[in-house]
Amino acid sequence: MHDFNEEFYNKVALVDDILEECLSDKDNSQLQKEIYESMSYSVMAGGKRLRPILVLEAYNLFEGKDEKEVYPYMAAIEMIHTYSLIHDDLPAMDNDDYRRGRLTNHKVYGEDMAILTGDGLLNLAYETMIKSVDEKNVSKSIKAMNIISNKAGVSGMIGGQVGDIKNVNKDMDIETLDKINELKTSCLIEGSLMMGATMAGASDKELESICMAGSLIGKAFQIQDDVLDVISDSKTLGKPVLSDEKNQKKTYVDLLGIDGAKEQVRNLSDKALKIIKELGNNEFLVTLIERLVNRDH
Ligand code: IPE
Ligand code: IPE
Ligand code: MG
Ligand code: MG
Ligand code: MG
Repeated sequence: MHDFNEEFYNKVALVDDILEECLSDKDNSQLQKEIYESMSYSVMAGGKRLRPILVLEAYNLFEGKDEKEVYPYMAAIEMIHTYSLIHDDLPAMDNDDYRRGRLTNHKVYGEDMAILTGDGLLNLAYETMIKSVDEKNVSKSIKAMNIISNKAGVSGMIGGQVGDIKNVNKDMDIETLDKINELKTSCLIEGSLMMGATMAGASDKELESICMAGSLIGKAFQIQDDVLDVISDSKTLGKPVLSDEKNQKKTYVDLLGIDGAKEQVRNLSDKALKIIKELGNNEFLVTLIERLVNRDH
């Protein structure tokens, strides 16, 4: 097998190139320059690029033939994810000052521009996908866009963020917390895997299975994020620690303790791995999911 780290590094570099191309300002006017600079500041700050890599690896899992077909969807999901982070960090939401090792967008460009930068990225995500539709791929492209528009929307990620802020300082049971995590975090991961699978021509039954895997991976991912918020340090994370405590957000760590939460991450990931292995053969994807269990950032 190829060295996983090297392969991962190459895929991150590919994602960066795709995003750079999408964000190159083709409009010369001063006003557009201002917002392109701000969008690039947050998108090109790094980040794990997990979601675009999941698009690509789901495409590979179902033996997609020409990976360039999923580039627009890889760019789009990272733009949607980054917009969600810019808005999540705003003073009206989690009020955090650092992200991806840099000051948050609103700290540099102001709250007004940060709101518009998020809006701009959300819109550019759809512009990027729609622009890529041609007569050869029209039906699966529309299917992929339909998936992500739902997963990112009010019945998906946005709905989860509503649940997150509406439950501040409230007692939380596992069931409510699971529902919030499913929406705010799993939905974009489900969408990533399902878009890649759709573009590779997966069947509806296969889409259902990969959606289930995404749900499990996303829940594990959010629980690990909550664990790291308590046990890590801001330098390693590139964002503040103890943000949940500051904002009186109840997490798995409050309900089950660090060890109990970590055990959930392991269990959820094992279930996801089982589904992925049943769907096909993608060693890189399996190792990636495995690595997420013990990730430190
Ligand atoms: C952070 O996502 C938000 C959560 C859903 C926990 P990531 O941990 O993927 O953030 P980046 O993209 O690496 O910055
Ligand atoms: C955010 O969850 C999930 C989003 C949809 C943005 P968190 O608020 O825990 O994410 P971080 O810790 O700020 O990255
Ligand atoms: Mg939040
Ligand atoms: Mg936050
Ligand atoms: Mg967090």
